Amino acid sequence: MSDSAVPRAGDAGHSNVVKAMSRKRVAVLISGRGSNMAALIQAAKQPDYPAEIALVISNRPDAAGVKSAETAGVATTSVDHTRYGKDREAFERALQTNLDVHGVEIVCLAGFMRMLTPWFVRQWEERMINIHPSLLPAFKGLDTHARALAAGVKIHGASVHFVVAEVDSGPIIAQAAVPVLAADTPENLAARVLAAEHRIYPLALRLVAEGRARIVDGHCVIDGPAAIEGILVAPDFG
Ligand code: GRF
Repeated sequence: MSDSAVPRAGDAGHSNVVKAMSRKRVAVLISGRGSNMAALIQAAKQPDYPAEIALVISNRPDAAGVKSAETAGVATTSVDHTRYGKDREAFERALQTNLDVHGVEIVCLAGFMRMLTPWFVRQWEERMINIHPSLLPAFKGLDTHARALAAGVKIHGASVHFVVAEVDSGPIIAQAAVPVLAADTPENLAARVLAAEHRIYPLALRLVAEGRARIVDGHCVIDGPAAIEGILVAPDFG
């Protein structure tokens, strides 16, 4: 941009440029389909969204999500964990190099199927979030939908939380609940939860990018009117 084209306070468009310039640079880490990643990319297209998706990293070069990110015009890279054997930190240093090169400020895990070491988690303390398909702290780990059905719960859902060293733990930023119906299979329950995930992940990232989701005494506190923005998505039994 030439100097004469730089908007100044009072110019039309100045506030938009300031907003655009202060958008947080986000990387989304994926391993597969990438539907939550796609929801974040879609949300970040809104001019007032406080984050831009600067990079998608997959640990699986053939992940479907990589193609959809490319189609959406987002920079992608693969850091294939199989090339690092058992050396988790070497894999994570490669992740970190990519995050540094792209000036990433916030990391979103979205179906990223690698355990992270305390070293990497510390690098991104309070700046890395994850989506998990259950109402945490219930059903940490895998196969959450089958386990929810086996347990006979009537409400299930999804959570977005800050990442801490312990898996699927960490301060909860937003949760969405869905009803569990008598005829549910793990597959259709998963589909209902996934639709809820696509609503809360963009909301949670907005709160983090705006600096409104803070950790106080191990819990996430939201500044401002988060409740009416849908931080708790209630079941629709209608
Ligand atoms: C989602 O259910 C997410 O909650 C879990 O892994 C799944 C990823 O799905 N962590 P997608 O790749 O975002 O479609």
